[in-house]
Amino acid sequence: MAVLKATRLVKKRSPGTNGDHATKAAETAGHVKDMKLARDGKARIEWADRHMPVLRTIRARFAKEQPLKGVRIGACLHVTTETANLARTLQAGGAQVFLCGSNPLSTQDDVAASLVADFGIPTFAIKGEDHKTYYSHIVSCIEARPHVTMDDGCDLVTVLHTKMKPYLKDVFAGTEETSTGVTRLRAMAADKTLKYPVIAINDADTKHLFDNRYGTGQSTMDGVLRATNMLVAGSTVVIAGYGWCGRGLASRAKGMGATVLVTEVNPLRALEAAMDGYQVVSMADAAPRGDLFITVTGNKSVLRREHFAAMKDGAIIANSGHFNVEIDIPALERMSDGKKIARPFVEEYRLQGGKRLFLLGEGRLINLAAAEGHPAMVMDMSFANQALSVEHLVKHGKKLDHSVYVVPEAIDKEVARLKLKSMGTTIDTLTPAQVKYMATWSEGT
Ligand SMILES: NC(=O)c1ccc[n+]([C@@H]2O[C@H](COP(=O)([O-])OP(=O)(O)OC[C@H]3O[C@@H](n4cnc5c(N)ncnc54)[C@H](O)[C@@H]3O)[C@@H](O)[C@H]2O)c1
Repeated sequence: MAVLKATRLVKKRSPGTNGDHATKAAETAGHVKDMKLARDGKARIEWADRHMPVLRTIRARFAKEQPLKGVRIGACLHVTTETANLARTLQAGGAQVFLCGSNPLSTQDDVAASLVADFGIPTFAIKGEDHKTYYSHIVSCIEARPHVTMDDGCDLVTVLHTKMKPYLKDVFAGTEETSTGVTRLRAMAADKTLKYPVIAINDADTKHLFDNRYGTGQSTMDGVLRATNMLVAGSTVVIAGYGWCGRGLASRAKGMGATVLVTEVNPLRALEAAMDGYQVVSMADAAPRGDLFITVTGNKSVLRREHFAAMKDGAIIANSGHFNVEIDIPALERMSDGKKIARPFVEEYRLQGGKRLFLLGEGRLINLAAAEGHPAMVMDMSFANQALSVEHLVKHGKKLDHSVYVVPEAIDKEVARLKLKSMGTTIDTLTPAQVKYMATWSEGT
């Protein structure tokens, strides 16, 4: 896809540039589609903020305590209203934030414009940007010489560790938002390539139990519906992967009246899906039965040539996993005589023999491509983990090994506590006798 008419407000900087000068130059920087969209973006950022009480509480404390004073953060995240509120929170804590998109199709152009115009946050992201522009935006973020990286999928960290190694010397820690990024980082740590400690935000209970399950579950169906307007009730939906996202997606599809088939490679997850009431089948068995296929595995070529060949005429194919590799699109291209845009975010592939298959959102995560991503209410917790983890890294990051760390339990619990408080929910506390009982082995029946 071609780069859309864009507003570039920054000059290129070289690796040799003095850090403060680079920061100064980047302060007013950005590369966004259209600055005139800022007004709409601001209104939507404020709407999301109303549903992010935990992040607001943290922002108010950060504004007073300034725990991130002088810290430059290079963030490669989906540029959505919720991310804007995270960036504002980090900024309130004293950080300078530089933002680029973590997927070429997930940027909300009005939000990107507002971040630059209303919040002074240099943002490099355009919905529909091509591969080259996507990576040039990551480069712009790294050129701001971050001390802390914040990634969603590990693309920024990868560029930093391969093509932009001189910038590594400024970085002392990072965070990673999603399952796929954590997998890549663990691989880097295992072969000793990772050059600083990273906290795996995804692995916090207050992240994956809610964001991946309820957020991805709901917003993926939202993306499919906005793109197709299909009736889910009575249809057969095939979900590849029964991890945190797959569980949420399966329950939402079932709740809307679909017959849900699940495919898995992990016997435990497959067993769980079966006991949750889904039909667990191989993709070879599912292919001729499905009306809608959604991959959410973090793996590649989960839907491939033999599956496309077996699918029904009119089958719809979508992905909600991080990268656009879960569906083997090159194979689909090779099997097709031609393709056309059927609707926005829907490509009709005409296979040899006349069968048509419909690919949604170019195989990129459909909840962000065709809808707005997760609701703010659930991103509130994920991004509260981000903000508190950065604060933790500023205090302790320099003492940590170059490894992947879980979110400290105290942060996870604090996020849950604040969320419950914001919901007006009170829970019980242990009595002294219960505390003692839970710590003893001598008391039985
Ligand atoms: N769309 C979004 O907004 C969003 C949000 C969170 C996570 N994600 C992404 O979604 C993906 C899944 O995340 P998760 O948290 O559920 O991960 P997870 O590790 O909990 O689950 C992935 C599941 O897929 C299964 N799997 C792997 N290869 C498979 C194959 N070939 N066929 C069938 N199943 C297979 C695994 O066994 C596992 O159970 C990741 O790429 C993650 O980054 C997307």
